[in-house]
This record gives sequence, C-alpha cells and structure tokens, in this order.
Amino acid sequence: MKPLITLVGCGKMGSAMLRGWLADSGLDAEFAIIEPTAEHLGWTEAHDNVRLHASVGDAGVSERAARIIILAVKPQMMDEAIDGLGVLVGADTAFLSIAAGIPTKWFRARLGADALVLRSMPNTPAAIGRGVTALFAGDAPAETVALAKTLLSAVGSVVILDDESLMDAVTAVSGSGPAYVFLLAEAMTAAGVRAGLPADLARQLAEATVSGAGALIDAADEPPSQLRVNVTSKGGTTAAALSVLMADDGMEDLMTRAILAARDRSVELGG
Ligand SMILES: NC(=O)c1ccc[n+]([C@@H]2O[C@H](COP(=O)([O-])OP(=O)(O)OC[C@H]3O[C@@H](n4cnc5c(N)ncnc54)[C@H](OP(=O)(O)O)[C@@H]3O)[C@@H](O)[C@H]2O)c1
Repeated sequence: MKPLITLVGCGKMGSAMLRGWLADSGLDAEFAIIEPTAEHLGWTEAHDNVRLHASVGDAGVSERAARIIILAVKPQMMDEAIDGLGVLVGADTAFLSIAAGIPTKWFRARLGADALVLRSMPNTPAAIGRGVTALFAGDAPAETVALAKTLLSAVGSVVILDDESLMDAVTAVSGSGPAYVFLLAEAMTAAGVRAGLPADLARQLAEATVSGAGALIDAADEPPSQLRVNVTSKGGTTAAALSVLMADDGMEDLMTRAILAARDRSVELGG
C-alpha cells in the first residue's frame, strides 16, 4: 500500500506544496487533504491519488493513519485543527508543522509527549517554487527527515537546523525577509520619483532591478559582496550611493535593527 500523506490546511502554502508534490517530487503516495474551503482545489480532480475532506472528522470516516501529517493552518487555528485527529494518527505517524512561531513542545503537549514532531519555516516565494525552508527535525529517524525534506523541497530549497531556538532568527531573516525585499522595491520607486522619474517608470525600473539582481545572486558564482564591488567604479555613481547606504548608520545598521526586532517578536509570540 502506498504511504498516506495527510495535509491539514490547504490554503496558500498548503496548495503550493500540494502542486509541487503532484508535479514532480517523485513521491509515490496517496494524499488526504483536509480543507474546509475547497473551491480553489478543483484542479486536484485530475489526480486519483488525492482525496479532499472538509474536516478532520470527515477524513476520519474514510482515511487511515498517515505516514506523515503536514500541519499548514494559521497558528491561531492550530489548536482546533489538531483536535480529534484520532484514527488519522498511527504508531508511526510523524507530524510536520509549517506554522510560524509554534514550538515542537506546544505540539507534544497536545499530541502526546512521544509524538514525533518536525517543525519548519518556509517563506512566501514558495508560491512560485522559489522558497527557502528551514527544517528542525530533532531526533527524528533519518527516513522521516528525508521524507520531510522531499515534501518541503517541492516549494524550494531546504536547510536543516540542529537547534530549534534558531527558528526565531530564521523567521526574522527568511520568513519575514521577502517583505524587506518588497519594501526595497517600494523605497527605490519612491526615491526614483524624488529623483525626477515618472512614477510608472520608477516602479518598472525598481522592480526589474530588484528581481534581476536577485536572479543574478542566484546564477553567479561570486557572493553578493563581490557582485557589488564588480559594479562599483571609484568615484562613480554607484560609489556615491553606496557611501550613503554603507555609512555607520546605513543599511547594515538598519537591517540589523529590523531583524533583531523580528527575532525578538518571534520569541515573544512563541513564548
Ligand atoms: N504564506 C506564507 O508565506 C507562509 C510563510 C511561512 C509560514 N507560513 C505558515 O503556513 C501556515 C499556513 O499559512 P497560509 O498562508 O497558507 O494560510 P492560509 O492561506 O490561510 O491557509 C490555511 C488554510 O487552512 C484552512 N483551515 C482553517 N481551519 C482548518 C481546520 N480546522 N482544518 C483544516 N484546515 C483548516 C483555512 O481554511 P479557511 O480559509 O476556510 O479558514 C485555509 O484554507 C501558517 O501557519 C503560516 O504561519 C506561511
């Protein structure tokens, strides 16, 4: 019998993962999807190894114990979502949470002290298969870690954390990070307007520059610091801008304060 992969919550992130699993992850599995609002999941009808259920209770009527249950509801819905999983959990069932800010001990307090819980933190470029996910697997067996990596790799790259407490800083860098890059595009647009460009042109130039430079970081063999040096001539225009951005109270100072604020907030929320 093929392993059963159960997904609780198939919204933005759950759908992105499911699309990846069904497209080219190489997973030979069955999928039970628990999602109260399934209008956006009509496309799964083409896959006879996917079954949709409106609730955990509905799934419990026809499903068996899963190899792994992926928990992908909003953190504030998690308590309700994992209540009464019952027959969906077997002796070998592992749990993989993608919920921001919920520590593994929170899950074990509800699912049982021996529950095998892995915790991960994806980010929003997962929607286009370009996310990066940090995975804390604790002392999970290698086979379970490999399965979790395969599942998460469907939406981008995966890094393994040995220490769960790093998850707060991870959240601050990569979890919240896409918003900082979006803000960079916004700020460059606004500054372009101040420099005399029409708003549409400023936006087009700023957005293409941010996405093109990101793609170049990805494609290049050199680190971003070298890419920056490569485009900076002494006494030129880039150097003039960088003298502002790299001042003592410039971008690194600003970004450090922002990331520490996000990390501290993550610690508070995970309390
Ligand atoms: N999106 C991101 O970029 C991102 C990044 C990192 C981590 N995450 C984490 O990923 C998780 C999901 O985020 P998301 O953005 O995908 O949220 P989302 O789009 O709101 O998806 C959550 C889905 O779960 C459904 N749901 C609610 N209660 C449920 C229940 N009891 N059983 C089964 N399904 C239930 C919701 O249905 P209704 O809409 O009908 O309530 C919704 O479709 C969150 O914990 C978040 O912290 C997301």
